Amino acid sequence: MVDHLAVLDHVSFSYDGDPVLDDVSLAIEPGEYLALVGPNGSGKSTLLRILLGLLAPAAGRVSLFGADPSRHHERHRLGYVPQRPALAQGIAATVDDIVAAGRITRTGWRRRPRAEDRDAVDTALAAVALTELRHARVSQLSGGQQQRTFIARALAGEPDLLVLDEPVAGVDVESQRAFRDTLRHLVRGRGGSVLLVSHELSVVAEDLDRVVVLKRSVRFDGPPRALAEADVHLGIHPNDLPLWLEGIT
Ligand SMILES: Nc1ncnc2c1ncn2[C@@H]1O[C@H](COP(=O)(O)OP(=O)(O)OP(=O)(O)O)[C@@H](O)[C@H]1O
Ligand SMILES: [Mg+2]
Repeated sequence: MVDHLAVLDHVSFSYDGDPVLDDVSLAIEPGEYLALVGPNGSGKSTLLRILLGLLAPAAGRVSLFGADPSRHHERHRLGYVPQRPALAQGIAATVDDIVAAGRITRTGWRRRPRAEDRDAVDTALAAVALTELRHARVSQLSGGQQQRTFIARALAGEPDLLVLDEPVAGVDVESQRAFRDTLRHLVRGRGGSVLLVSHELSVVAEDLDRVVVLKRSVRFDGPPRALAEADVHLGIHPNDLPLWLEGIT
């Protein structure tokens, strides 16, 4: 399992006896751009939490960067943006402070920031179109702007694996475009891997190497082209559900 960036091997999980994941196997390779999709409650966020070592699987094995993820081994190689990042009310931190904190995974607490650290923060802010708001207090920003701040925090660490749980929910179209370019650069330019959980694939659909459809178990795993050939499409339903998921039972 050492050659893969991340592996779930026959993983099952349940909360209080309700099965949420059933025999899920998935391996992520370096440089791969992968989307994980599925209807609400299909187990996507749970799968991510298991992959990141935040939950232990009931059955099966998990490996991240070649080790047990709960051991926090090589944590600096990982960037994670949870679905609803918790923000303490009334905190005084600015956008800059939060994004720079994402760089600490690379620099450590003791070392003073270098030019390359400042550059990484500037680049991350530009990638989510927040440069002009960098001195604003995060607690005073809109939900979408806060979401973009957390994406920038993950980008600032220049991760080998970037895991994003519904990152474009609440992010406007203009910012989505900058975000799309950034993800493409991370994968194609730097050789990093991206695991994206999203209902709105339309913005990134043509960039993806691979789509995994999850509904308790893996229902599809292959290139987006193969989805289209199966006559399922990455369109958006008026109720915000991808049309093609309706065909999956
Ligand atoms: N902490 C928890 N305790 C008990 N049940 C939970 C918990 N978290 C999630 N669940 C349940 O597990 C199932 C899968 O939830 P999960 O959050 O993984 O789905 P999801 O695919 O990420 O959904 P969404 O698209 O809404 O984000 C759901 O039925 C949910 O109600
Ligand atoms: Mg979720």
